[in-house]
Amino acid sequence: MDYEERITSAQLGQGEERHELSLRPQQLSEYIGQKTATGNLKVFIEAAKLRGEPLDHVLFYGPPGLGKTTLAGIIANEMGVDIRITSGPAIERAGDLAAILTNLNDNDVLFIDEIHRLNRSVEEVLYSAMEDYALDIIIGKGPAARSIRLDIARFTLIGATTRAGSLSAPLRDRFGVSCKFEMYTPEELAEIIRRTAGILNVPVDEKSVAEMARRSRGTPRIANRILKRVRDFSQVKGDGSIDIDITRKALDALGVDYMGLENLDREILRNIIDRFDGGPVGIDTIAASIGEERVTIEDVYEPYLIQIGFLNRTKKGRVVSQAAYRHLGLDFSGDEESQLELDI
Ligand code: ADE
Repeated sequence: MDYEERITSAQLGQGEERHELSLRPQQLSEYIGQKTATGNLKVFIEAAKLRGEPLDHVLFYGPPGLGKTTLAGIIANEMGVDIRITSGPAIERAGDLAAILTNLNDNDVLFIDEIHRLNRSVEEVLYSAMEDYALDIIIGKGPAARSIRLDIARFTLIGATTRAGSLSAPLRDRFGVSCKFEMYTPEELAEIIRRTAGILNVPVDEKSVAEMARRSRGTPRIANRILKRVRDFSQVKGDGSIDIDITRKALDALGVDYMGLENLDREILRNIIDRFDGGPVGIDTIAASIGEERVTIEDVYEPYLIQIGFLNRTKKGRVVSQAAYRHLGLDFSGDEESQLELDI
């Protein structure tokens, strides 16, 4: 199955954006979690407003589904400005970016998701835009070509990426603020689920909230999606309110186990165990053996498996932990030493 279709995918599904928007908090005070990032941003926003200047450019990085776009929207809202949302792959040519930049007003926010996927010529236009609020445009060709400088509005770029390491150094250096997004704790996810249930007007008991939070793999987008699917089950198979029975039935039917793992997560672990004796094995080999892209495994599956201690990254490759064997109901016969040579 395509990972974008999975219940636990952190990617936005088709048609999901509009619905998600109404669930999104509008103010910093409503935003749950990411306390370090939001605490700092609150100060920077206040200072920028006092000076009547745009907020410095901000880079958000971390796994998908953790609320980067949501927080960008809140920043614009708190600054009292408009936000323009686009993504790296959507801006194909330098001219596309120039068109966006010349339409911004002073202090506006430009949000570029997947900023690591901007192509080189577009990225170069961004440098002077970020640094001097100017575009260098080449007019003409050959010996007669000359460059003119066009002033643009003083704006804030918010760039989001799942892979900060893939950003070029010149681009990374032009962000004044850099925020790492962390996975959410079950308590934070529970708070988000309660808030969303309130907005959707669906009664849910605390046991169910805790169960959904535990199975949401640290990701609000997944928590909200699971809540909506459990609500479907409760409306069709129950009385419309969510209790622990209907929650467990729904999650089991969806193939989400009690740790939040789905078939593909288990397949990755089983594959390393069955074909590579639990590892260590290189990421490219894993990708080839299950027919997924390396970046998908690295960005989408691995962060959570590592976070819960089911997968370790060692100098020699990925190693499945004893805890994962236990979770899959298998005997651990591996080499405990190789489990301890942690992190590259
Ligand atoms: N919905 C999605 N992410 C959220 C967050 N961090 N806080 C509140 N509601 C959310």
